[in-house]
Amino acid sequence: MSMQSLELDPIKAKARAMWAFGDYDRVSTAVVGGLGPSLVAASGIGTGDRVLDVAAGSGNASIPAATVGASVTATDLTPELLQIGSQRSAGLGLDIAWAEADAEHLPYIDSEFDAVLSCVGVMFAPFHQPVADELVRVCRPGGTIALINWTPSGFIGQLFAAMKPFAAAPPAGASPGPLWGDEAHVRSLFGDSVSHLTAERRTLAVDTFASASDFRDFFAAYYGPTIAAYRNVVDDPERTAALDAAIIDVAQAHGADSGHMEWEYLLVVARRSA
Ligand SMILES: C[S@@+](CC[C@H](N)C(=O)[O-])C[C@H]1O[C@@H](n2cnc3c(N)ncnc32)[C@H](O)[C@@H]1O
Repeated sequence: MSMQSLELDPIKAKARAMWAFGDYDRVSTAVVGGLGPSLVAASGIGTGDRVLDVAAGSGNASIPAATVGASVTATDLTPELLQIGSQRSAGLGLDIAWAEADAEHLPYIDSEFDAVLSCVGVMFAPFHQPVADELVRVCRPGGTIALINWTPSGFIGQLFAAMKPFAAAPPAGASPGPLWGDEAHVRSLFGDSVSHLTAERRTLAVDTFASASDFRDFFAAYYGPTIAAYRNVVDDPERTAALDAAIIDVAQAHGADSGHMEWEYLLVVARRSA
């Protein structure tokens, strides 16, 4: 894979470094791997469609999109994840273009794609309106925008709420990521630039963790935002213990000790207005 390296401002450079901590690909494949195929199925894309996957990571949605015959461009801030995806897609004989790109400034011309997807991806860019505007701009009139985002009240939304007191302050003016899982917020971001918007709350069944502490150990080892929160309090044993407890509490409240969890997300499918 040959990619141009992006010049990033300090906010995006920090985000990129965070998503390279641990092993997000392991989270994607072992825990949330069902979301990409669900998004592709809901989007209705098929053979020959030009598809852009934004904040694609290692290709959770890009790979199933290419498998159904779409012509896929997978973009993300984090080259380490793109590299993993590139190797995986090559091994599967899939021809996907992998490229570094910031969701707030997509390097594509207006109307370049038939469909624009993002699977728990664009919700992590700090400024929502520029992202929504970019998703619309690069999608052709009548094309599809399809998104999966964690909801504020679901497990991952609540995990972020629990980690917030321990994490570094977000950039000034940033909006919380899980707001992308709120239908009214998404409708107001897109306004009348889309039509036929449907939003459905669904849950992902997660049977990966034997207990709340098993979940905490896995996320503390592999999930960038959780690793970053621990690094932020590394010199303070009391705050580290409080972060441990906060994560265990929220995981227990969502049934982790039963070995079965349901993680709520919002699936949005819309058509770009003419
Ligand atoms: C939770 S991961 C999801 C990755 C993939 N879509 C999946 O389903 O596995 C979030 C992704 O958003 C990317 N990301 C965060 N901020 C971004 C931005 N401003 N522009 C593009 N990608 C971004 C991260 O690098 C990371 O790969």
